[in-house]
Amino acid sequence: MLTGKKVVVGISGGIAAYKAVEIVSRLKKAGAEVRVVMTRAATQFVTPLTFREISGNPVVCDMWQEPKEWNVEHIALANWADVFLIAPATANIIGKIASGIADEFLSTTVMATKAMVMLAPAMNSNMYINPIVTDNLLRLSKIGYQIIPPDSGMLACGVEGPGRLPEPETIVNTLVRILTRGSDLAGKKVLVTAAGTREPLDPVRYIGNRSSGKMGYALASAAANRGADVVMVSGPSNLPPPPGVVVKKVETAAEMRQAVLDEFGNADLVIKAAAVADYRPSIVSKQKIKKTDGKITLVLEKNPDILAELGERKVKQILVGFAAETEDLLTHATEKLNRKNLDMIVANDVTLPGAGFDSDTNIVRVLYQDGRIEELPQMSKDSLAGQLLDRITALMTNSN
Ligand code: PMT
Repeated sequence: MLTGKKVVVGISGGIAAYKAVEIVSRLKKAGAEVRVVMTRAATQFVTPLTFREISGNPVVCDMWQEPKEWNVEHIALANWADVFLIAPATANIIGKIASGIADEFLSTTVMATKAMVMLAPAMNSNMYINPIVTDNLLRLSKIGYQIIPPDSGMLACGVEGPGRLPEPETIVNTLVRILTRGSDLAGKKVLVTAAGTREPLDPVRYIGNRSSGKMGYALASAAANRGADVVMVSGPSNLPPPPGVVVKKVETAAEMRQAVLDEFGNADLVIKAAAVADYRPSIVSKQKIKKTDGKITLVLEKNPDILAELGERKVKQILVGFAAETEDLLTHATEKLNRKNLDMIVANDVTLPGAGFDSDTNIVRVLYQDGRIEELPQMSKDSLAGQLLDRITALMTNSN
């Protein structure tokens, strides 16, 4: 799958450096020509010799070492690469790249390359969620760096949380998918909604929900990777904007409705993964609501159902909804599929561990207009996005 592709693998100094051995091996087996660059710290975890043997090429660890070949210097390697993969990418190398620091071979070569750069961050959870690291990743993703999000789980440092380097197979599959990105959605305009809305009560409080945006962002990213022009209307989310996706940020259901209607006429496909508030406070207090001794009553009024409105207006668009349910999954999802005039609805029982809000994985059933129901196993939201798009592109082909 990677025959003829030139991949530079950058390895920075974290315990996950050992996984890079399998990454290089898998890249070679997929047909890629691989050159490895290691930071000094990385060589403390795995020896350059290991990578030399597996890649079949000299390994560069030092800016000043005597080159083994005439053209192995940072500019030559930067020009040579079709893709640059840094795995593991430590907080340090991410910080250096984001800040434009080029003080050793790896950061210097990355700065000099015009190839696509993919970063697979791996570090302690507290480091990963440190706003400095989050900001650096956001900054890099905004300028087109591809970030492969870390897995969550038990880390080598004994802490449980996000920060684990994904399995080599996942990293290589992601690289293959991005490099050989299918174009089955080329020329299609896709509108995705993501994350939850916030309905203000006063200047500091709101009614919201637990949607993180992970499902919608994964879908937008996957659609862009398949060649679509993607606009994503997103409620508040901490996730970095997916590369190649136009993101329109909104807060309330009313703002989401307006942004969606603005784009709807151009869209071939709409996927509504957002968790939209069904109700909003009737009155938004101009001042912070003061505490009193007694109870207070909030009066709520109904928000417009955006998807139902799209269902009424639809001409050529394929409409895909989500249903987040806590009981009678299929009954409620079927009712929404029909009432909102959808082509497909993705039903998730959000009471299941590993499904629904803020989870990295999801467990869904896919319901179609013709009555078919498909049950999908638990999988990452990224994988699910790919699976759903496979089914949606089939629907689009059949509807033409
Ligand atoms: O963001 P994550 O943390 O990854 O979580 C993902 C998710 C659980 C939010 C996602 O998988 C999901 O289920 N999204 C839909 C949540 C929801 O609001 O479901 P619903 O059953 O209330 O709404 C049904 C459909 O109508 C949805 O497509 C929704 O976007 C849409 N809707 C709902 C209400 C409304 N006023 N307008 C709408 O357009």
